[in-house]
Formats: sequence, structure tokens, C-alpha cells
Amino acid sequence: MLETAENGRTWVLSGPTSSYAVHLTERDELLHLHWGPRIALADAEELAARPLPGGSSFEAPLDGHEEYPVEGGPRFVRPALSVRTPERRGTEWTFDRYETDGDELRLRFRDAGLAITLHYRTRGDVVERWTVLDNEGTEPLELLRADSATWTLPDREEWLLSHVHGRWAAESRLVRSPLTYGEKVIGSRRGHTGHQYLPWVALDTDATEERGEVYGCALGWSGSWRIAVAQLPDARVQITGGAGYDESGLLSLAPGESFTTPLFAALWSDAGFGGASRTWHAYQRAYVIPDADRDRPVLYNSWEATQFDISEEQQEVLAQRAAAAGVELFVVDDGWFGARTSDRAGLGDWTPNPDRFPAGLKPLADRVHSLGMQFGIWVEPEMINPDSDLYRAHPDWVQYQEGRKRTEFRNQLVLNLAREDVQEYLWEQLHGLLSSAPIDYVKWDFNRCFTDAGWPGDAYPQRLWVDHVRALYALLDRLREAHPGVAFESCSGGGGRIDLGILSRTDQVWTSDNTDPLDRLAIQHGFSQIHPARVMAAWVTDSPNTQLNDRVSSLRFRFVSAMAGVLGVGGDLSEWTEEELAEAREWIALYKEIRPLVQHGDLHRLCPPTGGLSAVQYTRGDESVVLALLQAQHYGEPVPALRLRGLDPTAAYECLETGEVHRGAVLLHHGLRTGLRGDLDATVLRLRRI
Ligand code: DGJ
Repeated sequence: MLETAENGRTWVLSGPTSSYAVHLTERDELLHLHWGPRIALADAEELAARPLPGGSSFEAPLDGHEEYPVEGGPRFVRPALSVRTPERRGTEWTFDRYETDGDELRLRFRDAGLAITLHYRTRGDVVERWTVLDNEGTEPLELLRADSATWTLPDREEWLLSHVHGRWAAESRLVRSPLTYGEKVIGSRRGHTGHQYLPWVALDTDATEERGEVYGCALGWSGSWRIAVAQLPDARVQITGGAGYDESGLLSLAPGESFTTPLFAALWSDAGFGGASRTWHAYQRAYVIPDADRDRPVLYNSWEATQFDISEEQQEVLAQRAAAAGVELFVVDDGWFGARTSDRAGLGDWTPNPDRFPAGLKPLADRVHSLGMQFGIWVEPEMINPDSDLYRAHPDWVQYQEGRKRTEFRNQLVLNLAREDVQEYLWEQLHGLLSSAPIDYVKWDFNRCFTDAGWPGDAYPQRLWVDHVRALYALLDRLREAHPGVAFESCSGGGGRIDLGILSRTDQVWTSDNTDPLDRLAIQHGFSQIHPARVMAAWVTDSPNTQLNDRVSSLRFRFVSAMAGVLGVGGDLSEWTEEELAEAREWIALYKEIRPLVQHGDLHRLCPPTGGLSAVQYTRGDESVVLALLQAQHYGEPVPALRLRGLDPTAAYECLETGEVHRGAVLLHHGLRTGLRGDLDATVLRLRRI
């Protein structure tokens, strides 16, 4: 709901439980009024009438109060907008007009030839913000910085900042620490979202998993980005974020050109971190993820089994075993194309390797379909090996700096996707590939960061940072439109490209290359703070986990860990015994039963993975499922019962595993006993209201 005051200068956007309010002063300053529980327009008008606190000649009264602080004038905070023209730097805007359109508010300002439009839109309790910059003048403009939005928190004592950090194969580790004066900055200067942080922060003062106020902000951008959380001298907290890491120049806007910033979404919840996560999940399922109401199939992926050593016959053997276990989607990973027999060659040549697939991919795809499964392939379109036909034909199609050394991480270079000829080549290759065989699924990988992001000859070479992402999005959008039946997975050496931007055009993400079922629990715990299980791909792989840490774990433990997301199998099925395959079949059958709850239900994190018992619960309608895992049990320490959430205290629930009937109030207040014992034990407990 969007309300506008009679004077056309105060606006309140409201979701079911929250409101967000802004006010435009007579001097055209756009001030933040409120973000939190629902308020009425009259409440916002009272806030708008409050004068800003005064200060000395060393302070700027506007600081900490503006919705979109621009560079220039009486401001000392980090500017969200920094513009340079041949004559001047900074912005001094005047208000032009406002527009409302359903739940969307647009506030339009001008500074000479630059039009600045701030967009606000409510999606349930999530507020989406973005900014559009139009050069309507006759001179070129340089956007040194153009953030999506600045969010302002209410005055409180002692904020705590939560975010996730990580690296390859250890993504999404949750941390929470006191915010102090100054700035905390997270981001990526790598050209992709990065394994190091999800572009998400949460702030609270005293929230728990189920109670208390939590503010969260998440950015939708798959290139370099930055979120800065600032505690200002008067203790007010502002969060500013957008595309690009530095102020070194984002884009040059010629007359007539415009830039739309990425979306920066945010929410307030008074139901703790769990409530905030559930709101994020519901938002993404409803407004971000394509076809989120559809179930994601159980997949098999051949990477850990075969690495680059693949053949049609061997993939067929794996496919037969996968189908017998109940897998629904069979994915051939790296190594099927060009001269790709190792990571040294082939990227860029997206035609099947004639020795490995003499008649192309169609025979294998048909065979997989005849086994009752969908067929998927791996690609890494934005990359190129110097040892490839594409590179030999177009050595200038890569990002490079004239006369400088270049980095060949993983023996590959990054294609310059800002170039139209590269965009067209990739479209033709991928469209041709998807038309050449009945392919249902594409795992889209990205295995190195930008390091030599140059574009010799271009008038504004640094634009390739932004234009790469725009071209990636356009290519995905075009492919999705031409091949509506094909689903896409975002992968970047595991979880290196996960954000609301890529999620709006992919069906799931590869959470991490770390498939160890215990390590995964911490990764999944961090991931679940913002993103839903519906997109969180998780595979059961071999034990010992020779890819990583040699940990030995039971199939039971591996399956229960992976069943908390979109279940997949990634082990070498040709080495699994008949007993293991039979057990896998049972787990996959069980997953299919609980899938509607896991993929579409509400998540309750019952116990974080801190060394002992950890558990998540998914509820939907009258059903609930608990996935509980015990890392280690110390002698004499009983495993605690799990206090469940989201149940009706007055109802009774049958546990399908034990046949026992429990009162809802007992499960909520005294807990469910899991029967877990020893080390690396795990269980699935289904509950149905009776
Ligand atoms: C990195 C991915 O994360 C892996 O799953 C696999 O697809 C390899 N790339 C293939 O090169």
C-alpha cells in the first residue's frame, strides 16, 4: 500500500506488518522518516514536522537523514551519487515530480541535464529500491558512483551487524559483531558476486532466532559491488550499496543514455532472524525466482565422479544407475565439448567433442530421456582458454590491458562480454547448442575473477565491469525466452555468483564446491539467512570425501544434510554397491515426499550447526519435517529434545517415522526427541497434523 500526503511531499509505503516513510522538504531535501512497524500517514506527518537536530558549524544537519545523499553541498557522509562533467563535480538537485503506480513510488529530481529518479516498491514487507539516471542534456556525464539506495535505521543503542563471509569451498559463514563508529564495508572487486560475501547484511540490537527486530538489506547485482554500513558521529546508522566497488568510474553516460542501478531490497521484521529469513524466502519465491512454485527435480551431476575424463558410454552407465535410484535430471558436467580433456583447453568452443560424442549430444540426451530423466549440460560461456579455436580466431575478444601481463587463473581468460560481437557469438553458440539436442537444464559456471579488465581502444574501458553483467543478464534473458523449457543453474566454482540479480533469471544455484556433509551445514546455515532452500542445490557425494577432506560419513548423514535443499547426487555411482544404491533409492523417495515442504515451506532453524546437534524444520500447511544431524556426542551429555516451531499448540501431530502422536504444545515447549546418538548421526522426522 502506498499513501501520499495532501501536500504531495510525504509518502508512506506499507506491507502487511511494516511501513517505510519519506518526506521532501521545502528545500527539496529528501529525508528518511520511518522504517519499522506499520504507521499511518498522520504518524509520518508528525515525524515530518520534527526539525532536524541542529549542530555546530562542523556538522551537517542532513547527514544521516537523507534517502539518497549526493556528493556536494553540506554533507560529509558517503555519497550514494557522485557525478562528474567536464565543468563540475557533484549534484545539486531540484525536485521535478512524483509518480505513483500501484505499490511503486517514483521521485524525480533534476540537476541540469541529469534526471535522477528514485524508485520505491513494496513486495509484501520487502521494500525494493533502485535509481535511474538519465542524461537528458547535451554533454557527456561520468558516473563515478551511482549506488542503488541508502537505508537509514532508527536511533537505537548498540547495533549488531550480521553478514556472511567465506572463500572458495567455504562460503556463507555467518558472523555477528557489534557495530562501532566508522564504516564496515563488504563487497567484491572481482567482477562477480564472489565467494567472500553474499551481498546481504542484517542489523539488530537484541534479536534472537525467533524474536526481536531485524533489519536486512540485499543487493541484486552479479558483478563487483559494495555495501557500506556506516555508524555516523551521532550514532545514526546508514547502509549504502550498489554496483562497483570503488569510485574510480562506473560508466560514462552520453547524451540520451541512462543507467538503471541494481535493485537493493530491504526488510524489517520483528520476528527475529528466523522471521526475517522467512520473509526473504517468501519474497524471492513470489517475486524473484522464475517459476518458483515448480518443484526442482533431484539431479545427478557427473563432475566428482569423472572430472574431465568423460565418454558417452560411461555417462550412460552413470545415467542408468542414477535413474534406478530415482534421479529425475541427469547433468553432464565439464569435458563434453571442444578439446576439453583438461582445464587447459576448449573453453569457448561450444560444440561436442567429436571423439567423445561422435554424433553430438542428442543420442545421450535421448537415452537419458528414455530412462525417464531430464538431460542437462555444463557450460562456462564467459570464459575462454588460449588453447581454443575461438581464441585462435579472436585473440582480441578477451579482457586485457595493452602491454601488461595477464593472469591465466585456471588456464583461462575472461571474454569481453561488453563487446557486441562477443555477445552475438555466445548467443549463436548457446542457442545452437540448446536447439541441437533435447537439453532441459544448463549449469552455467564462472571459474575465475576479473584481473585484467581492460578494453584497448574503447573510449571508456572501465564500463566493461558493468556492461559484462548487463550482457550476461541479457544473454540469459534471451536464452530463457527462446528456450522456455530450459532451467538454468548459477554456479561460480560453487557459490561465487549468488545474489538477487542472478536469482531473478536462474532456477537454482550451486551452493558450494564443498560437498562434505558436515562442512555443508555451516554453509547452508549462512545461505539460509537470505536465500530459500528452493534454490540451494546440495549433492550427496562419495565417502571418504576424497575431493576435500577425506571425511568418512554414512549415506544417512550425507542424505539428511543434502535433503535440506534441492537434493542432488554427485558421487561415482559406478562404484556404489547394490546396497548403497538401494539405500540411496529410499532416501530419494523420502526426499520426494518431503520436497513440497523443503522447497516451498517455511524454514525454522531449530539449532545452528555449532558442533553438537543441528536441525532445521520446514512447515507447510498441516505438515512439518525435521532434519536433525548430530556431529558428536560427548559422554554423559544427553542429546536435547528439539523444540519445534510453527505448529498449532492445540493440535496433535503424528510422527510418521515412529507412529507416535504428540501434542503440539508439547512439541513447541518441551520438544521432540530425535533418537540421535554417537557421532555423525542423522534423522528425518515427518509430522502430520491429525
Ligand atoms: C566448478 C564447479 O563448481 C564444479 O561443480 C564443476 O562444474 C567444475 N567447475 C567444472 O569445471
